[in-house]
Amino acid sequence: MAANSFGILYRLTTFGESHGPAIGGVIDGCPAGVTLDFEAIQKDLDRRKPGQSAIVTQRKEPDEVEFLSGIFEGKTTGTPIGFCIRNTNQKSQDYSHIKQQYRPSHADYVYDEKYGFRDYRGGGRSSARETASRVVAGAIAKQFLNPITIQAYVSAVGSLQLEKSPDQLDLSLAEQNIVRCPDPQLAVQMEEYIKQVRKEGDTVGGVVSCVIKNVPKGLGAPVFDKLHAVLGHAMLSINAVKGFEYGSGFEGIKMKGSEHNDLYHEDGTTLTNRSGGVQGGISNGMDIYFNVAFKPVATIMQKQEALTHEGELVEMQGKGRHDPCVVPRAVPIVEAMAALVLADFTLLKRADKL
Ligand SMILES: Cc1cc2nc3c(=O)[nH]c(=O)nc-3n(C[C@H](O)[C@H](O)[C@H](O)COP(=O)(O)O)c2cc1C
Repeated sequence: MAANSFGILYRLTTFGESHGPAIGGVIDGCPAGVTLDFEAIQKDLDRRKPGQSAIVTQRKEPDEVEFLSGIFEGKTTGTPIGFCIRNTNQKSQDYSHIKQQYRPSHADYVYDEKYGFRDYRGGGRSSARETASRVVAGAIAKQFLNPITIQAYVSAVGSLQLEKSPDQLDLSLAEQNIVRCPDPQLAVQMEEYIKQVRKEGDTVGGVVSCVIKNVPKGLGAPVFDKLHAVLGHAMLSINAVKGFEYGSGFEGIKMKGSEHNDLYHEDGTTLTNRSGGVQGGISNGMDIYFNVAFKPVATIMQKQEALTHEGELVEMQGKGRHDPCVVPRAVPIVEAMAALVLADFTLLKRADKL
């Protein structure tokens, strides 16, 4: 299975399965001399980890990162940063029922079709456990992106939607509730809804929105590696993602060009920001903002029809510890993937002109 790496200059390769001894990664291309704030890295991992609240999977994993190389006396050395996170709370027997059966809308069937063999325990490599490694690499990238800041938050759970735009919100409120929605009243409704859906043995989807501020002009490449295209690639590579839109997104089609255009101020900033901070694939210095849609995940605790390895349709009863709604845990993953993209383009920009 190739394609376990992301990025050109700041390049992350991840390894590991949900129920193997460990997951981890190698970050190649991190500049030397970055003084690392290890607490900030662990904080982002804690925002992603299972068992953190009553509305996420109850798998209990401390998700402590162990660095193996590339760091000396608290600073990056410019050599590959190897790291691992031990898997400590596997219950592989919870997954014995999916050894010969394929959960509808999970990756079980396609992995078997593609490779003829799969590590079914906890979803193996298809498990979102892999994203913890992305969070480590993203947390390190955030530390040399200054003054760029990246903040994601939950803007929808099912049909409960935040109607305000990022500039009308106090985004610091997002981390003050377990849903990670910056509207405290709506967060309560979202939490209740997720709990209700969990009781029904079901799952629900949602949207994670993200705002990137203090972006310098000129990040992104003009043709295939447009900034928004690479952000789209990054976001669509996250498990369970079904949609990506930036700037005015799909709503923008309802406007005419005369309404949609972002008119200039004399200094090149714009009066409105329907472009979402990117024009022609290149950052224009305005905030970048985008939305990422996550589906209601596949593993439900209700009975449903599944396909067996032998091609029979059978009744399957969901088992194991699963997320009823992944968006609260997806917030740091979205930030991490955005940080990888911004770090890469920041380093690449140095080669743009003499
Ligand atoms: C943070 C996070 C947690 C997830 N937890 C679960 C889970 O508990 N159960 C599940 O079936 N899928 C879960 N998923 C989604 C699966 O990993 C994903 O749906 C699966 O690999 C199939 O890929 P696809 O949905 O992208 O097609 C999670 C995704 C994320 C981002």
